[in-house]
Amino acid sequence: MKSFILTLSVWLFAYTFSPVKAQELASPNGKVVLSFSLTKEGTPSYKISYKNKSVIKESTLGFLLKKGESLNAHFKVVDSKRTTFKETWRPVWGEESDILNHYNELCVFLEQTTTHRKMNLRFRVYNDGVGFRYEFPEQKELTYFVIAEELSQFAMAGDHTAWWIPGDYDTQEYDYTQSKLSQIRSLMPQAVIKNVCQTPFSPTGVQTSLMLKSQDGLYINLHEAALVNYPCMHLNLDEQHLIFQSHLTPDAKGDKGHLYTPCHTPWRTIMVSDDAREILASRLILNLNDPCVLSDTSWIKPVKYIGVWWEMITGKSSWAYTNDFPTIDLDKVNYTKARPNGTHAANNEKVRRYIDFAAQHGFDQVLVEGWNIGWEDWFDNSKDYVFDFVTPYPDFDLKGLNAYAHSKGVKLMMHHETSASLRNYERHMEKAYQLMNDYGYNSVKSGYVGSIIPRGEYHYGQWAVNHYLYAIKEAAKHKIMVNAHEAIRPTGLCRTYPNLIGNESARGTEYEALETIKPFHTTILPFTRLQGGPMDYTPGIFETDISKVNPQNPHKLSSTLAKQLGLYVTMYSPLQMAADLPENYEKFLDAFEFIKKVPVDWQKSLYLEAEPGQYITIARKDKHSNNWFVGNTSNENGHTSVISLDFLDKGHVYEATIYADAPEADFQNNAKAYTITKKKVNAKTKLTLKAARGGGYAIMINY
Ligand code: NOJ
Ligand code: CA
Repeated sequence: MKSFILTLSVWLFAYTFSPVKAQELASPNGKVVLSFSLTKEGTPSYKISYKNKSVIKESTLGFLLKKGESLNAHFKVVDSKRTTFKETWRPVWGEESDILNHYNELCVFLEQTTTHRKMNLRFRVYNDGVGFRYEFPEQKELTYFVIAEELSQFAMAGDHTAWWIPGDYDTQEYDYTQSKLSQIRSLMPQAVIKNVCQTPFSPTGVQTSLMLKSQDGLYINLHEAALVNYPCMHLNLDEQHLIFQSHLTPDAKGDKGHLYTPCHTPWRTIMVSDDAREILASRLILNLNDPCVLSDTSWIKPVKYIGVWWEMITGKSSWAYTNDFPTIDLDKVNYTKARPNGTHAANNEKVRRYIDFAAQHGFDQVLVEGWNIGWEDWFDNSKDYVFDFVTPYPDFDLKGLNAYAHSKGVKLMMHHETSASLRNYERHMEKAYQLMNDYGYNSVKSGYVGSIIPRGEYHYGQWAVNHYLYAIKEAAKHKIMVNAHEAIRPTGLCRTYPNLIGNESARGTEYEALETIKPFHTTILPFTRLQGGPMDYTPGIFETDISKVNPQNPHKLSSTLAKQLGLYVTMYSPLQMAADLPENYEKFLDAFEFIKKVPVDWQKSLYLEAEPGQYITIARKDKHSNNWFVGNTSNENGHTSVISLDFLDKGHVYEATIYADAPEADFQNNAKAYTITKKKVNAKTKLTLKAARGGGYAIMINY
């Protein structure tokens, strides 16, 4: 008996710690192959290949816990299960009206032999990449636990080229750097440009979505999907081994996630293709999110809007009403006694002018920032109670302006700058949304500028991540659509909550007037930031010389006027702003016509040309007509496209209007030189189009 027990325990030991045979799982088309195994220490590990080329070399998985044995060794495989899934689903809005979700799945059920704690790894393998997540079933052995660090590795097969922004717990509003992985450390100091609230964490730390290209032509993207009740994942490069290590955003105490079972992490995603266009066409992130949970989505409508906004960003006007108050106690302040500063933009007269302009040119909404009291000392004071989100300034007639807008078939768009005081926003949220319902607003642009309150928390920690989703869910109860700036970068949650119609969460057009944007920026964003969801990039700046708007502001756009048009197609969003001042559009009414006509919801999207950092050309078919629209964005070297219109209906003649850079156009010297050409086209037409340095083009093809 004794010897039997001895043999059994030796056998068990051998079973537990000898590497088990790898389990392989291929994508439906067989090109992407995932392999899972346990190392001899019982550490879960995986690798990924694409057409037999290595995408992720053997990489280990697990967690360091704050207390008790970590979840990174001594595992055995208890069971595993394979399934296949295929369906087509219809997004409420999107780049296409039907999305295919087709994957093979492997779920590996693991048990830690030393603690009997259970952890499952679920892998989904698509034709365009892999998603995996950790799952913790309900169990006595693991109830409440605190993560000290997630230990997911992404081992690169070479010193790839990367398009990266610094890893940061608080902001993504950075310019991209293009470099080899091995150069990240030396380039980091110049990449960490100043921002009002920033917390970079490592000289080799970068953010997701991260875009990479291998020397042998593989395009690889690392990101996450369905980030819920968990901190945002960054990547920290071990440059000696070219391994990215997950790095979670901590909370105020340095902890990296408070969880209790049953629970699971977000999906870690690896997209791959040897054709850059397929990365843009990928719906992997959306597919890994849960289907829509809202039973009625009829109130969710794509929005094209203008706003009382650019004049504040350029410094021409102010959000604040008065210069009288050095500090403000919101409960005691009396604005009726304050002297107006004369630059407050959100006043009745101006807002009416914007409403008239929106009505005349067919825009759905007018955003008005600086309408509510508190802006005099909102910025950077770590002040808890800055805004109440319901009290207008004396020169903003909340009721009258809404009635005026509605009488003209236009809505006002609400603005909630929270000054990153999340708790204060949550305290006022119900009344703020109710006020919107009372006056007929159905969309809000929210914002989170500055350091988070509660103090010590970060924009991308678990606490703040939960706040952003709370705001979206509460908004849905009030039939309100949300466009959140400075919030967590999106991870496809707009599939589940399609009232999340936009986010900023990257360096947007405002930086053209505040600092700079590199000309190649918009050739990278669709590969990175837009993978998780639409961006309120606020394009459409026609007066590229900002000093013409505000003589004190010397900035110039890093884009031509024609490229500003192209962005309405290349930067997909169901929410698009025409961001310039009405008077600037009035100077270029022929080019403005494109912004008026371009749809914000699509039946089909075709990615005609793409190379990160260089150019992107996309053709999209309107969801509600047979018209097509083409857009291009190009870097500082310009680009010549030869595109075939073979996507048009065979035998039908269309009328194309081409908005292009003039031959002499150049983003630095002649940004506003454009041409407009009309031409009959059909499915056999080939067009040669030239984007200037920092330029682009747009085409409207009417059926
Ligand atoms: C930053 C946002 O990105 C910008 O659009 C907004 O105008 C300001 N915050 C003020 O809320
Ligand atoms: Ca911003």
